[in-house]
Amino acid sequence: MRKKIIAGNWKMNKSRKEAKQFMQEVLQQLPTELNNVEAIVCAPFVHLSLLAEMAQSFPLHIGAQTMHFEASGAYTGEVSPTMLIEIDVTHAIIGHSERREYYHETDEAVNQKVKAAFAHQIKPIVCVGETLDQRESGSTKSHVANQVKQALAGLTEKQIRKTTIAYEPIWAIGTGKTASSRDANDVCTHIRKTVASISDEAAAQGVVIQYGGSVNPDNIAELLSEENIDGALVGGASLAAESFVKLVEAATDA
Ligand code: PGA
Repeated sequence: MRKKIIAGNWKMNKSRKEAKQFMQEVLQQLPTELNNVEAIVCAPFVHLSLLAEMAQSFPLHIGAQTMHFEASGAYTGEVSPTMLIEIDVTHAIIGHSERREYYHETDEAVNQKVKAAFAHQIKPIVCVGETLDQRESGSTKSHVANQVKQALAGLTEKQIRKTTIAYEPIWAIGTGKTASSRDANDVCTHIRKTVASISDEAAAQGVVIQYGGSVNPDNIAELLSEENIDGALVGGASLAAESFVKLVEAATDA
């Protein structure tokens, strides 16, 4: 059985004090063991070291929201996978639609980052998703399949199996509009088929596929009840400790 993965994406939010307080509350409330569920907080770079230290010996992983693909070099402002590993960051979101839109991250860069993540034992959460125009013109599945193929190009079957893919329709991010669980599952099913087509059935069955876009404690159970939705990547509703814990609890119940 695939595990469920709940990842909070703080984006550019929280002061150090707020980050610390969030962690204290979450660590108090989280069950001591999460059976077949992985909980991750993806925070701004400057908070990662503090959060990773606090989360030691708790069932909570700390992730970055992006990373560079080189281990070091003249890349002003960037953070490398080796720097992340050194401070016990275990995951990285790669190719979030905000990175693609505002920082012009291409499918090729996403692929380089995914490869770099595996080279340095960081688990990638690869984001894909369509715009409203693409949805309305009926090209959602072809667009998303294309993003998946490019992101995973050149990976081994074993690496593909260990990848998490987050399907995030761009029109649902931060808008309060969620894709219906049926529509979301339909695209996630197509993603799994796409993975089978570029790798094999074992990889397709192993890959964890999250849904993201206005997920909250009220709609998560329905989303997770779908066959091909194995978790959620959550922005807004991951910022409050109470609601983050509820999301993780919903996954343990699913
Ligand atoms: P949201 O963000 O939950 O606030 O819609 C999701 C995301 O961008 O990952």
